[in-house]
Amino acid sequence: MQRKILVTSALPYANGSIHLGHLVEYIQTDIWVRFQKMRGHECHYICADDAHGTPIMLRAQAQGITPEELIADVKQEHQADFSAFNINFDNFHSTHSAENKALANQIYLANKEAGHITNRTISQAYDPEKEMFLPDRFIKGECPKCHALDQYGDNCEACGATYEPTDLINPVSALSGATPITKESEHHFFKLGDFDELLQTWTRAGHLQSEVSHKLDEWFEGGLRDWDISRDAPYFGFEIPDAPNKFFYVWLDAPIGYLASFKNYCDRTGVDFDEFMNADSTTEMVHFIGKDIIYFHALFWPAMLKGAGFRLPSSIFAHGFLTVDGKKMSKSRGTFIKARTYLDHLNPEYLRYYYAAKLGSGIDDLDLNLEDFQSRINSDLVGKVVNIASRCAGFIKKRFDGKLSATLSEQALFDDFTAQADSIADKMENREFGHAMREIMALADKANQYIDEMKPWTLAKEEGKEQQVHDICTMGINLFKVLVTYLKPVIPQTVEQAEAFLNIEPLQWNDISTPLLNHEINKFKPLMTRIETDKINAITDASKETL
Ligand code: MSP
Ligand code: ZN
Repeated sequence: MQRKILVTSALPYANGSIHLGHLVEYIQTDIWVRFQKMRGHECHYICADDAHGTPIMLRAQAQGITPEELIADVKQEHQADFSAFNINFDNFHSTHSAENKALANQIYLANKEAGHITNRTISQAYDPEKEMFLPDRFIKGECPKCHALDQYGDNCEACGATYEPTDLINPVSALSGATPITKESEHHFFKLGDFDELLQTWTRAGHLQSEVSHKLDEWFEGGLRDWDISRDAPYFGFEIPDAPNKFFYVWLDAPIGYLASFKNYCDRTGVDFDEFMNADSTTEMVHFIGKDIIYFHALFWPAMLKGAGFRLPSSIFAHGFLTVDGKKMSKSRGTFIKARTYLDHLNPEYLRYYYAAKLGSGIDDLDLNLEDFQSRINSDLVGKVVNIASRCAGFIKKRFDGKLSATLSEQALFDDFTAQADSIADKMENREFGHAMREIMALADKANQYIDEMKPWTLAKEEGKEQQVHDICTMGINLFKVLVTYLKPVIPQTVEQAEAFLNIEPLQWNDISTPLLNHEINKFKPLMTRIETDKINAITDASKETL
């Protein structure tokens, strides 16, 4: 049965460049989406920039431009980076858009009408010079526990204590250096507790990974607290209806940005927005996110949707964080690597394959070990997969006018390869990409063993062995074709080149068991080259410079 699936990746903040950490998510999602599409499902991959909030407002100020200019520049940069990594969004929009304003108002007002919004006055730190309320991160001072200086308003990096910004000794505004005063203001709150029962059931009903549901139990035990969804001017965001100078907190309209981008896409393409978003929709809505933003997606988001009469997500798939060489990405070590810096030196398909080889369905962190990365690509992709084609293509071209044999000489071997299709598909579906890659590489080993044993290069020198050489190389090319079909979601650009070499239409999953026989192939050009160590060093060197 054909499935209809709306898939999202988290919306990247519009105040910084895409780095290799972000790419864990976008590559993981893109592979999954490409896999679904190859299987013949209707799948829409939707994303956007997350354009609102205090950091974006302040960064624009610092650069002497408007926030609108900043987010337009960043959007272009993000889209160029994503497309260079072959991340194939069906739509990439912005949360600062007409669709998002309309949907944010709609969802807010529906929740308000249903009684899920409450107002109350709170006191907060205020910068009298900058004339704005200060988020915790913008207040610094002396730790009340260990007296370390220059600590942030929410926790101490020296002793690990957590506290309220009002507990800091000698607090100052990180923006102006002024001493913050305490000021009152009315805020709007979303009554998350109204959804306690719904969420307790929903979070245990198979929409989340089991380790994520368990983690959420702690939050239920602590009791669900009202969520502050408003911010005072000046703020870059959407003004709340009927509340002049009050703005939606960025995290209110950010997930709504998924729907806004999808709406923008539906309006352009004729896909039926309501069919996907109705409360009783039979379509799927799937969110890929990092483990740091589970709370927003697994609690606030379903509650907001429910309160506004929309469908709830089918699945939320959280992933872990990237480390490089076993440690947090670091600017001084040159391991805080931007997407663009990588692209200046290496083929994006290498990183896609490496992440696939490392990804599973859980939320464990994954490590980009640069040495392992290099040897894995050189041995798996270059040494195993591409090698099969390069060992066989020359003979076919030179001796047989580029034409493959009329029959498969080793049907059983070919069948061994295609028999894995269901098992590999199952792993791809369940985001066990690492397992899938291992199965594929085991097959690649088998194909190389076959060619090693058959030694077409020796037979080619003997009299009367023409047919055998032809058959062996035809087998090799056909085994290669099965492997690249399996790998297509992971390394789409390379497989596109392979399709051109094989002289075939874009491969679909169902093509796996159809061999290429009596078929003319094109001249083989190397699809990939080895990674040399100097390329890796160039990337880490360039990443140190951007400090
Ligand atoms: N804007 C919010 C998401 C709003 S979604 C409605 C945000 N943006 S982000 O730019 O900080 O992160 C975007 C995604 O990249 C998040 O899912 C985040 O978890 C992921 N990652 C950011 N750094 C990462 C690593 N170092 N490793 C893996 N994923 C990381 O959060
Ligand atoms: Zn301290």
